Amino acid sequence: MDFMDILLQHQEDEEVAKATLMELLAAGTDTSACTTEWALLELLNNPEIMRKAQEELDTVVGRDRMVTESDLHKLLYLEDIVKETFRLHPPAPLLMPRMSTQACVLGESFDIPKGATTIINFYAIGRDPRVWDKPEKFWPERFQGSTIDVKGQDFELIPFGCGRRICPGMLLGLKSVYLTLANLIHGFNWEPVVRGGSYNMDEAFMSVIWPKLPLQAKVTSL
Ligand code: HEM
Repeated sequence: MDFMDILLQHQEDEEVAKATLMELLAAGTDTSACTTEWALLELLNNPEIMRKAQEELDTVVGRDRMVTESDLHKLLYLEDIVKETFRLHPPAPLLMPRMSTQACVLGESFDIPKGATTIINFYAIGRDPRVWDKPEKFWPERFQGSTIDVKGQDFELIPFGCGRRICPGMLLGLKSVYLTLANLIHGFNWEPVVRGGSYNMDEAFMSVIWPKLPLQAKVTSL
């Protein structure tokens, strides 16, 4: 039985079925799609990084087939590109509000009283110069030799949140972004179509944070 079968079994409670479906569609589609779009924009703005990523794909996958899930663990530079994209462009920059069940101290400097609601701004952490060297620079190499990961254990990089309310779709979201991005840059050559070759990286908040101007590029098959 898949997810849809189970929802249909509970048709007597239409509200719940509809809300659950809406929640999964809303949380599970735009998040991965906008991350992929931001990554492509960053790669178009940084042709040297695009070239290195395509070289890695050619070495690991070769030129005669598409990228599959089993290749992903070998694509280490691609992984660093995705981490760097999440750092600068988290789709959901504010984590879910938390209410403290007891008084505590956060980060040695914030006294949180019992019952207070706290909202963590991951967007700010991702661009904080006290945490990251050259925070405004798209620089995947910063992760080489580092153990920092996006899975909720390293608080400087928590695009999926952390703790009990961590995103339940994290592994699906990560796989979708890796696989889509890898196949788009492995199968196609991407050329910028903006004057000066540099894209505007302004943001627009809708369901998630999208690029304000949708990506346009000249794409030819490789
Ligand atoms: C790039 C992909 C994704 C990102 C960056 C992302 C990010 C997040 C974040 C930051 C939260 C809040 C976590 C917290 O407060 O600690 C969240 C919650 C959630 N995500 Fe994701 N998400 C992604 C993909 C997905 C997918 C694919 C699904 C499901 C198919 C999904 C379903 C959910 C749900 C249901 C919640 C609410 C969990 C709760 O209320 O406890 N997400 N996500």
